[in-house]
Amino acid sequence: MSLLAGCGGGSTGGGGTTGGGNNNPPPSTATLAQNAAKHSLKVGAAAVSPYLSDTSYASILGSEFNELTAENEMKFASVAPTSPTENYAGADALVSFAQAHQMSVRGHTLVWHQQVPSWVSPSDTTAQLNTILQNHITDEVTHFAGKVYAWDVVNEAFNDDGSGSTPATVRSTIWYDNPGIGFAGMGTAYIEQAFNWARAADPTAKLFYNDYNIETENPKSDAVYAMAQDFTNRSVPLDGIGFQFHINPSFDTPANLASVTANFQRFAALGLDIHITELDIALADSSTASFNAQAKLYGELATICLQQPKCKLFQTWGFTDKYSWIPQFIPGHGWALPFDANYQKKPAYTSILNAWQ
Ligand code: G3I
Repeated sequence: MSLLAGCGGGSTGGGGTTGGGNNNPPPSTATLAQNAAKHSLKVGAAAVSPYLSDTSYASILGSEFNELTAENEMKFASVAPTSPTENYAGADALVSFAQAHQMSVRGHTLVWHQQVPSWVSPSDTTAQLNTILQNHITDEVTHFAGKVYAWDVVNEAFNDDGSGSTPATVRSTIWYDNPGIGFAGMGTAYIEQAFNWARAADPTAKLFYNDYNIETENPKSDAVYAMAQDFTNRSVPLDGIGFQFHINPSFDTPANLASVTANFQRFAALGLDIHITELDIALADSSTASFNAQAKLYGELATICLQQPKCKLFQTWGFTDKYSWIPQFIPGHGWALPFDANYQKKPAYTSILNAWQ
């Protein structure tokens, strides 16, 4: 059953043109951002600075969204490709664009096993890696202090294993145990260290753990929950969880939707913020039926987020099918975002808008 609220028309947010004196208000012309703001919700998109010269891209990003994140340009390999000296030119361009359009900026991501610069190697010692990671976190968070309101401090640190009531295990990575920064075999201790470094560099930024396949209650989200419970109990500076939501229409079952709601609630009960960070719904074709199934699921998730007070961000991974990562990484799939490759609004766009009107 769809959780979508009916399209009730009604008044628009700030820039909308409603007026009209009859009983059938015209359709809202408000943007996603205007509707999200009515609920103190951020609506964001992952963005890439070279695309800002595409005027349609810049115009929609700057008007429909009130938040953006760097799809790639804040990753370690992006800011320090050849040496420890960090260069933030691409990310700075995104921040400037956001500031000019009254948008918040989310940082993605400080610690990840992918996109590690080639000058960082498993043959480095743990002492060297510890220094490298501390310097990276400190340099980047300091550079963006006051400009980035939230960071994905650690990304994708758990395996897709576990079963039943056995939670997933910590992923073996260069930062954990290969050889790691000095906490090999100690579970989430290296993650804790990264959060402490980030908090020291900017005491005001909200600090998130971000992962995929943790949207529902399952062995992987159980592992993240156990870590979150431990961190909050011991005042490790964790402020929220990023739930990526790289999904497809088969996700749309009553059991999954109920599980997302329950999962969000258990993290919210720890006092943590909930961010939907990388939502896209990949399709195998561009048929009307697929677009409508996708729209239904987008609307349902927009409603679930709206109904959970700790859900503060609804962010898609890009916003136009023109630049989505999906076709390159999942051949034969695409059409995953609310705007098509020609920047036309898809049914998915309308579903999100309707959920927030
Ligand atoms: O910048 C280089 C360029 O110099 C080079 O010529 C080109 C050749 O392929 O590669 C460019 O780098 C690419 C980079 O995106 C920037 O476009 C990488 O090859 C490519 O692997 C990289 O893919 C990104 C991927 O993360 C890996 O970093 C995707 O765009 C990005 O959407 C994806 O995002 C991830 C999140 O960070 C974490 N969660 C999953 C999500 C989807 O995979």
